[in-house]
Amino acid sequence: MSTVLLHFEEDLSSATRIAQAANLSMGLIERHRFPDGELKLRLPASLPERSIILRSLDHPNEKLIEIMLAGATARTLGARHLTLVAPYLAYMRQDIAFAPGETVSQNIIGKFLAGLFDKLITVDPHLHRSPTLRQAVPVAQAIALSGAAPLSDLIAQRRPSALLVGPDEESSQWIATAANRHHLEHGVCRKARLGDNAVSIDLNGLNPAGKAVVLLDDIASTGHTLAQAAKRLLAAGAASVDVAVTHALFVNDALQVIQQAGVGKIWSTDCIEHPTNAVSVAPLIAEALSL
Ligand code: R5P
Repeated sequence: MSTVLLHFEEDLSSATRIAQAANLSMGLIERHRFPDGELKLRLPASLPERSIILRSLDHPNEKLIEIMLAGATARTLGARHLTLVAPYLAYMRQDIAFAPGETVSQNIIGKFLAGLFDKLITVDPHLHRSPTLRQAVPVAQAIALSGAAPLSDLIAQRRPSALLVGPDEESSQWIATAANRHHLEHGVCRKARLGDNAVSIDLNGLNPAGKAVVLLDDIASTGHTLAQAAKRLLAAGAASVDVAVTHALFVNDALQVIQQAGVGKIWSTDCIEHPTNAVSVAPLIAEALSL
């Protein structure tokens, strides 16, 4: 039996893109929700030795239960080597206890996933203080891909003379990769987070006057980081500001917040399905599946 890519119904489009790129067969995980909220899943009755579960972990709380149920069941149905493809990996940002008593979610979720899977493939995991993905999720094989290259290709096509800007110093890793790929001018701002919905941004010496700026970041959640950065750049004379992100979380009114700040185009990868998706990471995932 050839390797199977197991997916949930709502992920049919991204599963199809990955399965086609990696030449895999597909298997549906059916889901039933009982009136009390509990879930029952049903996988194909027999699975090949090498099986893959696709679940991007935006809105993660229920999905973590799903992959726990699906992963454990897959083992009983014949899967000996189990891969999780989670293009967006949740709970990576809380990587230390900022105050006594706080959960270090990265450790807890990382160990939980490592108990279920042999291999993990994800894209731009938010590893702030952990140097490697395997340190955060101690599976036998952990592969962290990046949306920087496909986003850079798109930016080079749409805004060939863009000034590529990261909203904070953490984004310098993606900015450098994306900018060097197409020899784009680049720089990063400085950010201070003041609360869940508030950040302050300093241009950190950047001069965007007259430039077509593209802001590039790993995640857009509330949108305030990108919105504040866009406001500063436009106030400093940027000719235009567009936005490119790997993970289109865009919670609540995030899109509106970003647009109201004066942003033109908003592009994202398909790590999380969203109307802003403009490039696919399926070819990268297919390549990582063959490793
Ligand atoms: C944080 O360091 C990340 O790279 C993003 O900048 C951040 O998660 C974006 O969050 P928000 O959209 O809520 O400002």
